[in-house]
Amino acid sequence: MWCLMKKIVVLTGAGISAESGIQTFRDGDGLWKKYRFEDLATPEAWNRDPELVLEFYNWRRKKVWEAEPNAGHRALVKLEQKFDVQIITQNVDDLHERAGSKNVLHLHGELKKARSTVDPNLVYELKTWELKMGDKCEKGSQLRPHIVWFGEPVPMIEPAKNIVSKADIFLIIGTSMVVYPAASLVIYVLPDKPKYYIDPKAFPVGGISNLNVIKKTAGDGVPELVEQLMKGS
Ligand code: OAD
Repeated sequence: MWCLMKKIVVLTGAGISAESGIQTFRDGDGLWKKYRFEDLATPEAWNRDPELVLEFYNWRRKKVWEAEPNAGHRALVKLEQKFDVQIITQNVDDLHERAGSKNVLHLHGELKKARSTVDPNLVYELKTWELKMGDKCEKGSQLRPHIVWFGEPVPMIEPAKNIVSKADIFLIIGTSMVVYPAASLVIYVLPDKPKYYIDPKAFPVGGISNLNVIKKTAGDGVPELVEQLMKGS
């Protein structure tokens, strides 16, 4: 079937989940301000102290399990009434899915999944927030968090570039735009297409044309922009 809907591609980061009570990474109370990522989110950390790494992700998973989507997540679902919407998230929570968004690509993995340490294709949905030493895949190896750690490749980046290159409208929400390759995705949006960056610390990204900088929280800025886009469609 020929699709006449305009395509909106949305890149989200930790900021969209902040109003759901999930800490970001680089704000004042951010995780990487309190903890060293080298101790918790690298393959070396896992090899050195897997119990500590599991404990860190169990703690974060429990928080996500208890959190609820907010007005920012919900407004993006509304966009689907008039647009072909694809979300590309750096977040490992499932708040977009629980809000009701249909197309969500996770660049950095998913907290609610675990995977085998001998076969990366063996990925399992977790039934509780806790992943323990001794929890094994069907081949008998320890399960690890299904997360892209620092220093690991980002397997979903190629599909993401392809999606972004087809965007008619591009939204960036709640990300500091400092982590690559995610931050480079905006380069693949066609120069003439409108782009919006919603974040209290949003800034004009160098070399990117047609970028509207909206210095607001996701809870305020996303519903407002969605209303504007729905009226103009
Ligand atoms: P950061 O912590 O780097 O940035 C969070 C952004 O959210 C900042 O720009 C804040 O200004 C903004 N923010 C805070 N509260 C907000 C609100 N209520 N509404 C909207 N924006 C708000 O988080 P990310 O950019 O997502 O990777 O970080 C990228 C990656 O770095 C993460 O995916 C994670 C981390 O290391 C992995 O874990 C692999």
